Amino acid sequence: MPKSRAWHLVARPQGWPVPEDFALVETETAEPGPGQILVRNLYLSVDPYMRGRMNDVVSYSPPYALDAPMTGGAVGRVVASAADGFAVGDHVVHMLGWREYALVDAAHSVKVDPDAAPLSHYLGVLGMTGLTAYVGLLRIAEFSAGETVFVSGAAGAVGGLAGQMAKLKGAKRVIGSAGSDEKVDLLTGEYGFDAAFNYKRAPVAEQLRAAAPDGIDVYFDNVGGDHLEAAISSLRVHGRAALCGAIAGYNDTERASGPRNLSRMVPWRLTLRGFLIGDHQDMRPEFLREMGGWLRAGSVRHRETVVTGIERNAEAFLGLLRGENTGKMLVALPE
Ligand SMILES: NC(=O)c1ccc[n+]([C@@H]2O[C@H](COP(=O)([O-])OP(=O)(O)OC[C@H]3O[C@@H](n4cnc5c(N)ncnc54)[C@H](OP(=O)(O)O)[C@@H]3O)[C@@H](O)[C@H]2O)c1
Repeated sequence: MPKSRAWHLVARPQGWPVPEDFALVETETAEPGPGQILVRNLYLSVDPYMRGRMNDVVSYSPPYALDAPMTGGAVGRVVASAADGFAVGDHVVHMLGWREYALVDAAHSVKVDPDAAPLSHYLGVLGMTGLTAYVGLLRIAEFSAGETVFVSGAAGAVGGLAGQMAKLKGAKRVIGSAGSDEKVDLLTGEYGFDAAFNYKRAPVAEQLRAAAPDGIDVYFDNVGGDHLEAAISSLRVHGRAALCGAIAGYNDTERASGPRNLSRMVPWRLTLRGFLIGDHQDMRPEFLREMGGWLRAGSVRHRETVVTGIERNAEAFLGLLRGENTGKMLVALPE
């Protein structure tokens, strides 16, 4: 069987992770047992939630074990199979990323068609991130046509899609924030947002008020912190926020204080609602139908930032936290 390399977490990051927290370890691969497939991974996903799994705390998914292969989304080609319905040459999405070869229980994988879409799309626009944008906007924030929407992290994988979906579903106005002038240009250019601002240039509350002088109805929160506080101050009566993520605080060593303006929630009758995409898989067929149509029509644009080589997996993850990606951050493992 081929040799493989896998990334281990070897130290729990204190604050910002550093390269020394990770190690690339050579491993043996085993023959698949009954119900298993051996997959040569072709794209690995790096995602902000992985930072939370590096901490030894109780959360919705268990912490990464030290000195063991890390996990995450991946797509690859089956190279050996002992599972009914899975043949060598099939392509699957599964959760044993951060490695070259993965021995996967076939029941925990989903077959995908490389002729229907590039394989990388199954980790991004057609995968977990696309579904997150769809569910957050439509089910959690209960967006409806004619409303004004603010999306933070808007040049990222989830945010870029959430804003464009709002436009496609009839938003009156869509505003995005991102961390560079180039990303802001992408939002108001290619992605078709009505307004966008660079949150590093001036206080978020000030820039949001200028971009949405009449307030917002929906906030899609990828960032938390000062973005969330600013959005609460701009939400109109019956406004809703979908709390998708809070990346501004993922490397904090002390718990940040909450938004100082929660007292607005009662008189303005606001709803702030967190969600995890794992609870909303029932929306996947509807999402794939609609997103497939938008992609075929060319009405959704999306970017991928692809870093090549298993050696660069940890570096790609660190780059994601620093905002080096535009759209979905991926690691490619060419054969
Ligand atoms: N609830 C769920 O089930 C679920 C599922 C998937 C993702 N999420 C969450 O959704 C959010 C987006 O995830 P994604 O996969 O699409 O990642 P992403 O947005 O593609 O990448 C992360 C981005 O966060 C931005 N960022 C980093 N530090 C920041 C800070 N201090 N303030 C503002 N922005 C900052 C960076 O862009 P800039 O250059 O703009 O700073 C970076 O590119 C994350 O919070 C993630 O945890 C939640």
